Amino acid sequence: MEAKKASESFTIMNEMVLPNDTNTFGNLMGGRLMYWMDIAAGIAAAKHCNSPCMTASVDNLSFKNSIKLGNIVHIEAIVSRAFTTSMEIHLKVWGEDLLRKTKYESNEAYLTFVALDENNKPKPVPAFIPETDEQQRVYDGALRRRQLRLVLAGKMKAHDATELKALFS
Ligand SMILES: CC(C)(COP(=O)(O)OP(=O)(O)OC[C@H]1O[C@@H](n2cnc3c(N)ncnc32)[C@H](O)[C@@H]1OP(=O)(O)O)[C@@H](O)C(=O)NCCC(=O)NCCS
Repeated sequence: MEAKKASESFTIMNEMVLPNDTNTFGNLMGGRLMYWMDIAAGIAAAKHCNSPCMTASVDNLSFKNSIKLGNIVHIEAIVSRAFTTSMEIHLKVWGEDLLRKTKYESNEAYLTFVALDENNKPKPVPAFIPETDEQQRVYDGALRRRQLRLVLAGKMKAHDATELKALFS
């Protein structure tokens, strides 16, 4: 399987916040944003592996700034590391006020997707090639994020999370 470059998975999604997308404060509902983020990440994952993909996990999401009614939601998703059958996707989200010409950070998150074969079983994905210093930095941190999420999911013993433990020693 031929390795894929980071840029091959790069995905941009834009949405406008309409009344039906808001909470009682007139801001974008977190759940709606998570829905769009899941789709953007799924597209990035599928661009990397050209297979159907399933969301395996969503790392912690903290919302820095709410996105206002009528503003634009700008989501960028890119594969940050590929493992055997899974891929970590890095997402960045901004709000944009086109009338005031301002753009503000909303949140950042990591999602993990697994490629599936025709029997819906995990299948190997292409290797991943970071292309920029920033992508290399995110790639380098992916092992410890993977260990943290697998420990939290009960799929890895804390004792085996060597990258994670190295942070504290
Ligand atoms: C995700 C899923 C396909 C993994 O299948 P599985 O039978 O557990 O397979 P494995 O244990 O062999 O894991 C396969 C890969 O998934 C990764 N994985 C499994 N659970 C994970 C989790 N909670 N977080 C991150 N990665 C996970 C494993 O690390 C492995 O990656 P690797 O091959 O790159 O090392 C399966 O658990 C599943 O279908 N879950 C439901 C997903 C779903 O319904 N998503 C939609 C949300 S509503």
